[in-house]
Amino acid sequence: MADIDITKYFKPDLKEARKRSKDVSQSVYFDLADDVKGIGEGKTYKIDTYGCQANEADAEIMAGILEQMGFTKTTDETASDLIILNTCAIRENAENRIWGELGRLKSLKRTHPDLILGLSGCMAQEEVVVEKILKKYQHIDLVFGTHNIHMIPEYVKTAMLSKERVIEVFSKQGDIVENLPKARHHTHKAWINIMYGCDEFCTYCIVPYTRGQERSRHRDDIIDEVRSLVKDGYSEVTLLGQNVNAYGKDRKDGYTFGDLLNDLDQTGIKRIRFTTSHPHDLDVKTMEAIRDSKSVMPFFHLPVQSGSDRILKRMNRHYTKASYLEQLARLKDIVPGISVTTDMIVGFPGETEDDFQQTLDLVKEANFEGAFTFVYSRRAGTPAALFEDDTPEEEKKERLQRLNALVNLGYKRGHARFSGHIVEVLVDGESKHGNGMLAGYTEHNKLVNFKGDPDLIGQIVSVRVTESKTWFLIGERV
Ligand code: 5AD
Ligand code: SF4
Repeated sequence: MADIDITKYFKPDLKEARKRSKDVSQSVYFDLADDVKGIGEGKTYKIDTYGCQANEADAEIMAGILEQMGFTKTTDETASDLIILNTCAIRENAENRIWGELGRLKSLKRTHPDLILGLSGCMAQEEVVVEKILKKYQHIDLVFGTHNIHMIPEYVKTAMLSKERVIEVFSKQGDIVENLPKARHHTHKAWINIMYGCDEFCTYCIVPYTRGQERSRHRDDIIDEVRSLVKDGYSEVTLLGQNVNAYGKDRKDGYTFGDLLNDLDQTGIKRIRFTTSHPHDLDVKTMEAIRDSKSVMPFFHLPVQSGSDRILKRMNRHYTKASYLEQLARLKDIVPGISVTTDMIVGFPGETEDDFQQTLDLVKEANFEGAFTFVYSRRAGTPAALFEDDTPEEEKKERLQRLNALVNLGYKRGHARFSGHIVEVLVDGESKHGNGMLAGYTEHNKLVNFKGDPDLIGQIVSVRVTESKTWFLIGERV
């Protein structure tokens, strides 16, 4: 077979993606073009999302646009006319899973030749991925990245009508796109992007390349979105950004994340959560906003990554173990009883047993009530990919187990402190434990299972905690 001409496609470039400009991003307003309205009538779509909440929020936008075009959602892949894999690139094992899926879908395409198979999300932003798709995964019809989700109508139209492969990934972010339709997953809680991208450039992380430069949405667009959710009966919003504490910095008008929390508190939404934070940008105003507002929940996810100053420096994290613990002490002082969780990476290149001990020490001091823990994964194109790494994989896994044993004690302690208390629970749905049990989260973000009528789903109810386990609480309605 002749070589494919890959020059006609728009491919990503990580070096280009690294560049940052000083310009303030402009907002543009999405409007579905007339020529794509209705082209999905009688057709179905399925979106498989991997990775973080940013991807889940993107999937709700893609679904919203596709539904405006007339498509109907399905969960049955054999009945799908369009399948999009919305991918994650944060670690190698996330990517391996997706390559497996892409391979598996080849046979589906053989039996359903009219099926359009698409790939979006962070993996699409990597040039090595796009090259591999072009050369070896010819059953993939459509590839677009994180910066051009709003262009999905044109891409789908081209793929449907011309039967051509559509590969269009922009390395650099464009304007902030507002007025995007969303097919939200839940009816009582919602994701809200408050900013896009990340300028931190932690040396291990691919996100500043795949998600681009930090761009904050204008406060009025965010406030309007929350107000309209309140009108639609939503109780909880989770504000999303790679580093929400940097919200507003790029707009250069002095309006910060703390200001946004205070303004959103006035919208009438009952619960506000946010994720994720960077210790280096966390300010006292934000802590005070949590304390002073009715709706910002007493829960904070504050990734620390490592407890070793040497490793933190090599990670480009801009804080030390001592300054992190100081931030934490200030936060707990201002918001007594707040629940704090974190992210940690073990086996960063050059991490010694002594560095790892510093991480264990920090966990003991910080009293985390939960943590996501990871073995370092080399990401091509990031600075740390070039660092020497002589710790055997087995040793890294063993460190992870030792860390997890300590972290699990924190989960247990975090639940035990609510034993006998009456807690307010936003009921999410039926519990996976069955037995007529419902499940939901407390203000401190603790999972509670209790007996109740499904009519309560979506409501905030009072529950007395009767038992505490490592991973959740059990209670009864009061
Ligand atoms: N390897 C392992 N973990 C990583 N994370 C980010 N990049 C990597 C990587 N290359 C983790 C960090 C971050 C979380 C979302 O994922 O802990 O906070
Ligand atoms: Fe990645 Fe660091 Fe940005 Fe988080 S703050 S997305 S870890 S570069």
